This record gives sequence, C-alpha cells and structure tokens, in this order.
Amino acid sequence: VRAVRIHEYGPPEVLKLEEVPEPHVGPGDALIESAANGVVYSETQVRAGRMAEFGLAGPAFPYTFGWDVAGTIVAVGPEVDSSMVGRRVIASTAGSGAYAERVVVPVNAAPQVTGTTWPTLVEIPDGLGFVEACALQRQGRIALALIREASLEKGQSVLVTAAAGALGTVLVQLARSAGAGMIVGAAGGAEKLNLLDHLGVDIAVDYSSSPRWYDEVRTATGGGVDVVFDAVGGEVARGAFAAAADGRGRIIVYGFSSGELAELRMAELLRRGLTVLGFAGARFAQRQDYLRGLQAEILDLAAKGSVVPVVGQTFLLEEASQAHIAVEQRQTTGKTLLTP
Ligand SMILES: NC(=O)c1ccc[n+]([C@@H]2O[C@H](COP(=O)([O-])OP(=O)(O)OC[C@H]3O[C@@H](n4cnc5c(N)ncnc54)[C@H](OP(=O)(O)O)[C@@H]3O)[C@@H](O)[C@H]2O)c1
Repeated sequence: VRAVRIHEYGPPEVLKLEEVPEPHVGPGDALIESAANGVVYSETQVRAGRMAEFGLAGPAFPYTFGWDVAGTIVAVGPEVDSSMVGRRVIASTAGSGAYAERVVVPVNAAPQVTGTTWPTLVEIPDGLGFVEACALQRQGRIALALIREASLEKGQSVLVTAAAGALGTVLVQLARSAGAGMIVGAAGGAEKLNLLDHLGVDIAVDYSSSPRWYDEVRTATGGGVDVVFDAVGGEVARGAFAAAADGRGRIIVYGFSSGELAELRMAELLRRGLTVLGFAGARFAQRQDYLRGLQAEILDLAAKGSVVPVVGQTFLLEEASQAHIAVEQRQTTGKTLLTP
C-alpha cells in the first residue's frame, strides 16, 4: 500500500510517499480502506521534531505519518466483532499510520498517554460523506467540548480567533446554535474574512491588517466581548484579551498556533475583573466514552445540517508536503484533507 513516511524530522519535504507492506491487524484492531485523511495542525509541529511538546517519545524511523482517517472497515483483528466489516467510520490511529491507503486503528483501545492521539472510532451517520465526517474529526469534538467548558449563556457575545480555521469554523457555528448574541470572527486575510461572512458571523475582523482591531470589537459589542476563545497566542491573543469586557469577560485559551503563549498579568485580571480558563483536550484522554459521545454528536449535527463542515483544501497523498506547507504558512481555511 502507499503511505507517507518520514525518515527524519525536518521541513515538509521530509514527507515521502512510499510503497510499504500492508499494516498488521492485531487483536482489537480494525483495518480501514481510507477515503480521506485529516491533516492536524499539531502534526506539522511533530514533523518538525517538536515531539516532546506533545508528550510523544521520538518514533522509530521510518515513521508513517498521520493520526486521523475516514473510510470503510475492510477487516478486523481477533477480539473485534466481525459485523463491523463494511461500516463507514472515522477513527484515529494509536500514533502513526493515517496518511496511507489502508490504516490500522484500535477499535476500543485504552487511551494512549500521548495526549495527541485518542483512539476514537465512530460510525459515520447516514447522509454524511467521508470528507465531511473527516472535516469534523478531532476539531469538531474539541469545539463541542470548548463550548461546554465556556458555559456560554444565551445572548452573550463571543470572539473566536483563527476563526476561519478547522476548529474555528465549527466553533462559530456552535456558538450560534448555543444562542450566542453577537459573534465576532477574527482571522488573518480577506479570503478568511469572506468565509466567516459566509458562515454568518456578525462581525469579521482582520487582525493581520489592523493593529488595534480590538478597539473595533469593543465598540461593536458595546464595551467588550463576554467570551473569548483564543487558539493563536502571541500578539493576536493580546488583542483578544483587550477585546474582553471588563468586569465580566471570560477568556478560554486553548492553543498557540503563533508559537507563543501570551502573558496575562494577575494585576490586569484583578483590575479588569476577567476570568481565564485554560483548555487542553488531553485532559479528556482517559474519558473515551465522553470523547466518543462528543464525536458522535458533532457528526449527527452535521448529518442534520445544523453544522456545516468546511473543507478548505484537499491534497493527494503524494502532496502531503504541500498540505503541511499550506498549514504552516497560514494559507488554509477550514479543514485540510489528504485523499488517496
Ligand atoms: N487545546 C486543545 O485540546 C486543542 C485541540 C485541537 C487544536 N488545538 C489548537 O487549536 C488551534 C487551531 O487548530 P486547527 O487544527 O483548527 O488549526 P487551524 O486553525 O486550521 O490553523 C491554525 C491557524 O492559526 C493561525 N495562525 C496564527 N499564527 C500562525 C502561525 N505562526 N503559523 C500557523 N498558523 C498561525 C492561522 O489562522 P489566521 O491566519 O487566521 O491567524 C492558521 O490558519 C491550534 O493552535 C491547535 O493547536 C487545541
């Protein structure tokens, strides 16, 4: 089978499409004929050699890349119900192997201690395609978890940074269905803002072109935003914090795609009366049923049309390096997928 492997850490070009033996299907495993492979932002950081930050030991090379896949189960190993063969699923690998034509996943594995790979196999509901389901894998369930953690109340205003991204596009839609008041989508560049308008945000703000973009947000929301979701960190996060409403703003920090976690001084929290919540999905790594429930719920919402999966770009397996370049260079909108 064809699979994308690396023989060393490095720039996107280290991703190579190679012919490899069909993966071994062990006890508790399922073999999936891939229809789509999800590209995850953090995978680019792992490829670059920052494994330790994701709790992963360095893999033995060659290492077959990839965590997420959507496809049809074509075989199962011992201890797995054989009636699963033929089912359409999304699933995550135990840490490697998803950028491939055939992918082995654990069906019910004990959670990995990696914090990045949570084997969560979920059946795709009727009416939802592989590509759409794959778009909502991982980021879809995290977006749902974030909305819950935020305890968003009806009518409250929301600001999402990197709002045109894989997670952001789901988050703005879920905020709408949770009854948010004004929704502000913030992102970098005109194309991303167009997408946000299309997704129905009330205000789309470009933080790449306007240094004091948060003033615009404070004015439009009548003094500041109730709930801020930040995935970017650095300068963007500092702007997002400034946009929070004094006396009631809640800030949920769940990523730092800029590479820098923003500092927020205790004195400012105290003076402005803000609340900050740190969110790491890895916290749920031991709660397989919760994760599976979230994943199934977001797929059902999409099957009903309540959430629209956004696939911004699709690459062939042999173009995996181009997919990573697009992600690293901030050129992507919505989810990035590979197809065999
Ligand atoms: N806490 C958790 O459990 C958890 C789980 C999943 C993901 N995350 C985090 O959530 C964030 C979004 O993940 P995603 O998969 O949906 O990715 P994504 O939003 O599709 O892509 C990342 C986005 O971050 C923005 N960005 C800002 N500075 C960047 C830089 N220097 N390099 C690259 N991108 C930069 C870009 O949007 P703009 O150009 O619009 O700024 C880019 O499109 C990531 O930070 C990820 O690590 C956290």
